[in-house]
Amino acid sequence: MSNIAVAEKQWFGHPRGLATCFFTEMWERFSYYGMRALLILYMVAPVDKGGLAFSTEKGASIYGWYTMGVYAMSVPGGWVADKLLGLYRSVLLGGIIIAAGHFMMAYPSLPTFYAGLISIVIGTGLLKPNVSGIVGTLYSKEDVRRDAGFSIFYMGINLGAFIAPLICGPLGQRINWHYGFGAAGVGMTLGVIQYVLGKKHIAPGLARHEKDEVDERAAERAEGRSSSFTREEWRRISVIAILFFFSMLFWGAFEQAGSSLNLFADRLTRLSFLQWNFPSTLFQSVQPAFVIIFSPIFAWLWLRMGRHEPSSPTKFGFGLFFVGLSFLLLVPGAALAQSQGIKVSPMWLIGVYLLQTFGELCLSPVGLSMVTKLAPPRIVGLMLGVFFLSISFGNKLGGYCAGFFDRLPLPKLFGAVAGTTLTAAFILFLLVKPIRKLMGGVH
Ligand code: PHE
Repeated sequence: MSNIAVAEKQWFGHPRGLATCFFTEMWERFSYYGMRALLILYMVAPVDKGGLAFSTEKGASIYGWYTMGVYAMSVPGGWVADKLLGLYRSVLLGGIIIAAGHFMMAYPSLPTFYAGLISIVIGTGLLKPNVSGIVGTLYSKEDVRRDAGFSIFYMGINLGAFIAPLICGPLGQRINWHYGFGAAGVGMTLGVIQYVLGKKHIAPGLARHEKDEVDERAAERAEGRSSSFTREEWRRISVIAILFFFSMLFWGAFEQAGSSLNLFADRLTRLSFLQWNFPSTLFQSVQPAFVIIFSPIFAWLWLRMGRHEPSSPTKFGFGLFFVGLSFLLLVPGAALAQSQGIKVSPMWLIGVYLLQTFGELCLSPVGLSMVTKLAPPRIVGLMLGVFFLSISFGNKLGGYCAGFFDRLPLPKLFGAVAGTTLTAAFILFLLVKPIRKLMGGVH
């Protein structure tokens, strides 16, 4: 262990800086998911209920563009950190812009609504990829705690996503939409303050990162690398391209949680439990809660399977399979609600989110780590950006599907999503062997 590592304070056996990143991302996700829980409901709510009275189609379209933008901006956001501002200042600036965006939305007017959305898109692009980047700098290359560190970080993401709808949801739905958006802004502000106060804890990692960058540049000059790829590298890049497509389909279904499924909760689900009437946005907390509960179980399961642990493309296939199954489950639920005009049991959506969590836990951790392993080292950053784009396009696709919410019978809409993702899963299972060949030794 280096001297720096010895001097570093610890947090659950990890560098103390992990706590700083954990809480920064927790509050950022708190603000993102708190606002997202309300977004489509606010847009389609009638004027006398304080909403914007947009058609569902228009609301879903804005939702799609917005959530697409948030992740697409990660590509320029990563670039800005690399070339202009560095990781620390990119995250700081991002957090400030995000908080400003939420506060704009806390003011009830259409121009501030759109300006707020755009700010959040830009700010998230600066913050989200780069705070993960800072987590990476906390560990030296040989440090075996790195993966565990990222798992803890993922918990922070889901903790934020879990708490947010519990606070912003009732505030927004029960009292005033704009209070909900304001609460999201307050959360992000707390995150920024905490980040600035914690700067000293991430400083050793940032210093290491800067040194690595200088070394890398020096090595590049010395080696005079050629820019063309070998055949082997092309093969691996082609695997990333194949996975890009499947990843997009997965997120296209999965990210409807904030749109179609949010509307399903609001309009067609019974919102009471025993004597208690709860706001529909409460359902937005279910999925992150399941992630927090099940991620240790999945980690244990993979370990337990040892050499029988499924390969990365197989896990990807399972991800699609589970998300497909979740929409298939909703077909009878939707039929029941629409044919009989009743509100259905909350258990339908809870079941849907449980299956989706299984899908997420199969696919999401694998996706990013696979890209880092498959991409030629000199374009890892670019390829990670490309992978974020697949999530971004998926979000757009999800918004597109949600646009049919009022125009198609819901069993048809959900059935189409199920059919597409299940077919994709089936095709991917058939492709596992050839893909593994192309991967050439990477698992
Ligand atoms: N729940 C995850 C998050 O908010 C979804 C996601 C995964 C988003 C990977 C982007 C990239 O972070």
